[in-house]
Amino acid sequence: MTPLHHKVDLVISGAQIVSHERIVSACVAIHGERIVAVGEPAAMPPSAHVFDASGLHLLPGAIDSHVHFRDPGYPHKETWSTGSGAAAMGGVTTVFDMPNTNPPTGTLDALALKLKAAEHSYVDFGIHGLLGDDTIDHLEALLDAGVSSFKAFVGNTFGNLPAPSDGALLEGFEKLAPLGIRTVVHAENSSIMARRQAQLIAAGRSDALAHLAARPAVCEIEAISRVSILAQWTGARLHIAHHSAADSLYLIEDAKARGVDITVETCPQYLLLNTDSMLKLGGVLRVNPPVRESRHNEPLWQALKSGVIDMIATDHAPHSIEEKTRPNIWECDCGFPGVETQMPIMLTEVNKGRASLTDYVLWSSVNPAKAWGLYGIKGLIATGAHADIAFVDLKKTGLINQSLFQTKAKISPWHGRAVHGMPVHTMVRGRFVVQNGRLLEETLGWGQNIKDVQTMPQPHPQNTEHYSSAMVKTQ
Ligand code: DOR
Ligand code: ZN
Repeated sequence: MTPLHHKVDLVISGAQIVSHERIVSACVAIHGERIVAVGEPAAMPPSAHVFDASGLHLLPGAIDSHVHFRDPGYPHKETWSTGSGAAAMGGVTTVFDMPNTNPPTGTLDALALKLKAAEHSYVDFGIHGLLGDDTIDHLEALLDAGVSSFKAFVGNTFGNLPAPSDGALLEGFEKLAPLGIRTVVHAENSSIMARRQAQLIAAGRSDALAHLAARPAVCEIEAISRVSILAQWTGARLHIAHHSAADSLYLIEDAKARGVDITVETCPQYLLLNTDSMLKLGGVLRVNPPVRESRHNEPLWQALKSGVIDMIATDHAPHSIEEKTRPNIWECDCGFPGVETQMPIMLTEVNKGRASLTDYVLWSSVNPAKAWGLYGIKGLIATGAHADIAFVDLKKTGLINQSLFQTKAKISPWHGRAVHGMPVHTMVRGRFVVQNGRLLEETLGWGQNIKDVQTMPQPHPQNTEHYSSAMVKTQ
C-alpha cells in the first residue's frame, strides 16, 4: 500500500458506494490492485487519473459460487475466456468453477489442466475439487495444489459423475472438517431420480414437465437432510448448491439452529421462473434441480430475506443451441448460462421494490465472500480490499439478448426479458476488464486464483470425539 501523500493510480469520483448496510456518496482511491481510501473528495490523495462515475452506483463485484466453465473437456460449450468474459460483462469479479469437466477435477493431473485453462480468465476464480469415492485419498494434495473447496454430486447431473457413497462423504467430511474447508453439495437423491425417470420414459412421457416429475422436491429434502447430518457429526462446513424447493427450507433452518456451518445459494431461475415458464420454454429451461411450481418462488425470496438462504449464485451451465433444443426432453442437456444475466435480472427486482440494493449486495457479494474465506479482501468497497467493483447504472433499461452474450451458449430462458438496472463497467483488482459494456480483450488472463488470499479458519470443534475417532481410523 502507498503512503497517501504519494500519487495513487486512480480516484473514482461522484458515485454512490453500496455495502450490505448503507449507500453513501464517496470517492474511492485505488493504487495497484487495492482500494487505499474511501471518503470525501477532500480526503482523496493526489491521483494520476480521475474517473467520473457520477450517476452510478459502485457495488462490490458479485462473487458467483457456482459456474461451469467446461474447460477442460467441453470447449464447444464454453472456455475460460468466454465464460469469464461473460462473468466480467455481468459485473461478476470472482467465480468458483465446478469439477464436472473432463477429466473431472479429482486428480492432480486434471487440476493442472484446469489451472492451465484458467490462465485465460478475465476474473478471479476459485476451483471446487471433486469429492467422490475415487478422490477421497487426494483431497489434501488437491488443496495444496490450488483447489479452494470441494463439490459432491450427491444428485446426478451433466457429466454423469457417480454420486459419492455415504461412506465416502463421511470420510471426506472427516478429513475436511479440521481444515475448515467447505464442501458444495448438489443435493438431490440420485436413486429416486433414476427410478422415476426410467418409469416416466417407459410410460412414454417426453414432455417438458416429465423432467420435474422425475425429480420431485423429496429428492432435495432427503439429500439436504442426509448431508447436514453428516456435516453435524463431523463439524464439516457445508454449502448447498442451487436450493430449489420451499419444502426443504425447514431443514436448512433446523441445521443452522443446530449449529451446523451450512451456507446456501439459490439462483434467479428458482426465484423467478416456474412450471409456467417450463411449459413455454421446454428444454431450454431444463435444469437440475428443476424449476418447480410457482408456490416455491415466494418462500425462496422470504428465505433470502430472513437469512435462511445466504446468497445468489447462477449455476452458469452453458450448452450449445443444438444440445438445448432437441425435441425429446430427456435428450436436452441440463442447465443454461447465467453468469452474465444475474446482475441485471436481480437489479430489475431491486428496482421493482422486491429487495433493497443493500440486500442484493449481501446476497451477491458479502455472504459468498464470507462463505469462501475472502471477506475483507473481497465482498466490500473499503480500504485494504481488492478493487473489485461493479459500476451499475440503475436507470439503464434494455432487453436481454442471447445473441449478444459473451458466453458461447447463445440460448437462454431469459432471452427477451426486460431489465432495468445493469452493470456498465467492471473492475477486477484495480483494472477495468469491461468499460461501457465492452469487454477489454487485452485484460484476458488478468484473473487469479483466490487460493492465495483465502483464509478458512478452523471451525470450533463441536464434536472433537468424532474427529479423533476419524484420526485413529486413518492412522
Ligand atoms: O442443470 C444442471 N447443469 N445442473 C447441474 O447441477 C450441473 C449443470 C451442468 O454442468 O450442466
Ligand atoms: Zn451446477
